[in-house]
Parts: sequence; C-alpha cells; structure tokens
Amino acid sequence: MPSPDPCVLVIFGITGDLSRRKLVPALHDLHRKNQLPRPLAVLGVGRHPVDEADLRSSVADGASGDFASLFHYVAADPAKGFAPLRERLRALWEGFGGGAANALFYLALPPGAHEPTVRALDAEGLCREDGGWRRIVVEKPFGHDLGSARRLNGVFLDAFDEARIFRIDHYLGKETVQNILALRFANGIFEPLWNRGHIRHIEVSAAEDIGIGGRGGYFDGTGTLRDMVQNHLLQVLATATMEPPVRFDAGSVRNETIKVLQALRPIAPERVAVDAVRGQYLASTIRGTAVAGYRDEEGVPANSRTETYVALRTHLDNWRWGGVPIYIRAGKRLPTRVTEVVVHFREPPQQFFEPVAAIPGETRNRLVIRIQPDEGLLLRFGMKEPDSGFRVRGVDMAFRYSDLMGADPPSAYERLLLDGLNGDATLFARSDAVEAGWAFVQPLLEAWRDRSDLPLYGYPAGTWGAPEAAGL
Ligand code: BG6
Repeated sequence: MPSPDPCVLVIFGITGDLSRRKLVPALHDLHRKNQLPRPLAVLGVGRHPVDEADLRSSVADGASGDFASLFHYVAADPAKGFAPLRERLRALWEGFGGGAANALFYLALPPGAHEPTVRALDAEGLCREDGGWRRIVVEKPFGHDLGSARRLNGVFLDAFDEARIFRIDHYLGKETVQNILALRFANGIFEPLWNRGHIRHIEVSAAEDIGIGGRGGYFDGTGTLRDMVQNHLLQVLATATMEPPVRFDAGSVRNETIKVLQALRPIAPERVAVDAVRGQYLASTIRGTAVAGYRDEEGVPANSRTETYVALRTHLDNWRWGGVPIYIRAGKRLPTRVTEVVVHFREPPQQFFEPVAAIPGETRNRLVIRIQPDEGLLLRFGMKEPDSGFRVRGVDMAFRYSDLMGADPPSAYERLLLDGLNGDATLFARSDAVEAGWAFVQPLLEAWRDRSDLPLYGYPAGTWGAPEAAGL
C-alpha cells in the first residue's frame, strides 16, 4: 500500500451512528497499524456546536491520546453556507506547515442531506482542486430509485469529476469479496469452467439473523430490495460473473462491472409473480426468547408492506451466461448470518452411480464462496462410498481464511478509507453502475408498490424466509 498524502479528512455526521460504529473504529485500527497519512486531521462537521474536548473523549474510548488529538470539530450548516468550514480547513492546512491543501470529504449523512452538502461545498469553492486534491466519499443509499439516483449523480458530477467521487458499497471492501477476483483470475483451473457450458445456476445469498433493530424509520421507507440487493448483492454478483479486466485498475475493473449489470435482465411486470418473492417477518420465539414481528418494531407502521425478505430469479443476457439462472436472496431475521455465492456446476452427461442419499443434487459439484462469517471456500464433489459397491456421496474440500497464518484482515471500512485517502476508486461504485443497479430493481419496486395482487408473505422470525421462494 502506498502511504497516503497529508490531508484533512472531513466527516459530515461525525456524531452519528455510522461514524461511531464503523468510521472511528476503522480510523483507530489504521492509526494502530501506522497506515494513516502524516500529518492527518479529522474534522467533524455538523449543524450544531459540539465541544471539541467532548468529541475527543468520545472517540478516545480505549484509544491512545495521540489518536484523539487528530479530531477537531466545526459547526457549519449547508443552508447558511460553508464559510466556517473553509476557514477551519485553511487553519488546519496551515498547521501542517505548508504543503498541499488536500481534503477528503466523507458524507456519513442521511440521504436527504447529500445534495445540500455538496452544493454548499461547491458554492464555497471547496470542490476545486486549488492547492491540493479534493475527493468525496458518499455512503449508501445513493438515491431512492432510478430517477433520484440520476439526479443525485448530476449534483455530484457538477461539483466533482467521476474520478474524485467514491460511492461506498462496503461489500466491495470485504476481503472475501475481493478474493472472488483472486480466485477467478489468479488461478488457471476455475476460469475455463466459469461459463454457461459448465455452470448450471448461481446463487447469491445474504441471510441475517438480526431484525431491523432501532432503524425502523430508515428501513420502512427502504426495504430489503433497496437496502441489500440493489447495491451489495449486485456488486457481489458482478464480481463473480464479470469478464477478466484488461488490467487491474479502477477503470478496467469498473468497465467490466458495468457490462455485467447492463446484461442483467430486469424482471418484467408479467414475470414478477413467478420470478420474485417478498416476505416480512412475523413475531416468533427463537431459542426460547420472544422476538417482535416487523410491524411491531419501533418506527414501523402497523400496516407496513415493506419487505424484509426478497428472493428472485433472473438471468444475465450475455454470451458467457446466457440461459444460466441467477438466484438472489436476502433477508432479515433468518436463522443465521451467512453471506455466500454458490456456483452449481452441470452434471456429467451420464450418471452411472447410485447416490447414497436420496437428496436431489447432493453429489452435484458446487463451489461455495463463503463471504461471511467463517470465511472460506468449499468445493463439493461426489466420491465413492467405501465398501458400498459403486454408490456415491457428496463430500467437501474446504479452505478457511482463519487457517492462513497471521490472517488479520482489515475491516471493509479500513480498506475503503485507505483507498479513498490514496485516491484508488477500484472498490467503489461508479455512477453508471449505481444507475444500472437501480434500473434492474426499478420494475420490481414499482410492481410491488402498485399491485395489490402481488402477495407479501409472512414468515416467522428465525425461519428461512417465505417458503414460497422454494418454488423459484
Ligand atoms: C447495510 C444495510 O448496508 O448492510 C443493513 O443497510 C445490513 O441493513 C448491512 O444489515 C449488512 O452488512 P454486513 O457487513 O453486516 O453484512
């Protein structure tokens, strides 16, 4: 990793949940590993005054004093202009003893605040690369649908050029998602099989055992299709199915990502009832503990029709994947937390051997790419059951990340913060990819919003989602 230039990291929303849970801990880990720029200042921005000493003591929890001393705060309201922010930045840059006036702006804000913040930065001349570089990192959700994502891209692109906009999809920061690229392109044995000739279908699944916790206000206006599928799971799918990039750099990798997303077949209105299933979790008892149903969660209306579970079938209409069904599935309050890509291979043209177990597909070759937890790979194949004539059973060959000596993978946020500081956009979503993701989900969003004939299935919390999904 190159060492990043000196800069000011400006965090909008420094007192919010994301900063507390993800950004500050990631910064702390980078500090501990000596990977932060030198010098660095972290400047929190918010509309209301916050005492700098209080901010420092809140981030210092368990951290050394020199880490806390990186933090500063300025109150600045986009509606009143960002002159106070500009002054404070200037003072911090001067404190660096000359050199470049670099700034990475990080928007850890509710979506409605993105546009005014970018416009206020631009009005104050802070987006112009005047005396140093200026970049912007923005959290999901990027837009609420295709139209709003396009508008928001317009706002960002008025102020920054594409190479300086870093749209976070924290799944791309996960080591195991990046490892899909290494698995495919650092090895000779997988890629020849990685196509419609040898692969029968692909599943991308993200199960979470948690509910929506205290996020009812956000989640009820969002739903699982927007929250997990439009961004995280489509990016994972693109990583698993893209063509090899010409080179391993931001432009080349993202050129391949967009081609996959453009090849995704949107679910047409007449196919929604057969290719998509949505569900919502119901009150239940999990291991002896009563668990609230979705509609009883704080901030959720009692008649909410927001989905907490999605399963869908689609296709990639391109030469590599034509005719191969792709199954995407995500849900909250499922029995366990597991995210994985499963690549199912075709069966041999003739099957001589009786399977030991009467489970369909039990001996079929499949590669399980386990993204989390228990990160690793599993290759399933059929082997002869000892002493049984010629009956076969499915066995697994496994690799676990935890077996790698000294494996202490950085968190997704560590990796992405460092890439932002270094100006490497390879693991961030480009404007066209964000729009292509929205274009794929848009017809489904509309159908589920407008059509009362499309059911929303209930599933008891702690079960595998709507059983109707098995029909896909
Ligand atoms: C977030 C979603 O983007 O990703 C959450 O808003 C979800 O609803 C989370 O729980 C899952 O992330 P991870 O890293 O825990 O798989």
